[in-house]
Amino acid sequence: KERTFIAIKPDGVNRGLIADIIARFEKKGFKLVGLKLVHPTEDFAAEHYDDLKARPFFPALVKYFASGPVVAMVWEGKDVILTGRKLIGATNPADAAVGTIRGDYCIIMGRNIIHGSDGADSAKHEISLWFKENEIADWESAVHKWTYEK
Ligand code: GTP
Ligand code: MG
Repeated sequence: KERTFIAIKPDGVNRGLIADIIARFEKKGFKLVGLKLVHPTEDFAAEHYDDLKARPFFPALVKYFASGPVVAMVWEGKDVILTGRKLIGATNPADAAVGTIRGDYCIIMGRNIIHGSDGADSAKHEISLWFKENEIADWESAVHKWTYEK
C-alpha cells in the first residue's frame, strides 16, 4: 500500500486553491487517508526541508513555508509517490507542463503552491513527521473495484 505526503503551501491556501488541488488527486483515483490544516513554525519548516539546508534559498524557503497555514495530506494508491509528482509538475512552474498543478496555477519557484514527497524514503519520513498514527484513516473506498482490477 503506497502512500505519499502532499502539502498545499501557504500561497495555495491564501489563493483559494485548496479545493481545486484536492480535486485533482481525488479525480485521478487516489484515496485521501490523512488531512489537516497546520500553521508550521519556522523550526518545523526547517525540519521538513532539512535536506535543503545548505542551499542559498533555504532561509527564504523556510520563511515562505511557515508564512501561513498549509494543508497537510496523506494520499494512498498504486505508484502515488511518482504519479503525485507528475500531477504536481516540475519544481519551477516556468518548466511545469500545462495540465499539471504548478503548470496551471503558479509562476515562480519561490511560490509554487504545493509540495510532494520525492521518493519512498522521504514519503515515509514526512508522513511520520506530520501525522500521528491515529490521524491516518485506513479505509476501503466503495469504488475501489472501479479504479483497480483487483
Ligand atoms: P517540494 O515538493 O516543495 O519539495 O519541491 P520539489 O521537490 O519540486 O523541489 P525541491 O525539494 O528541490 O525544493 C523544495 C522547494 O524549495 C521548491 O518547491 C521551491 O519552493 C524551493 N526551491 C527549490 N529550488 C529553488 C531555487 O532555486 N530558488 C528558490 N527561490 N526556491 C527554490
Ligand atoms: Mg522536494
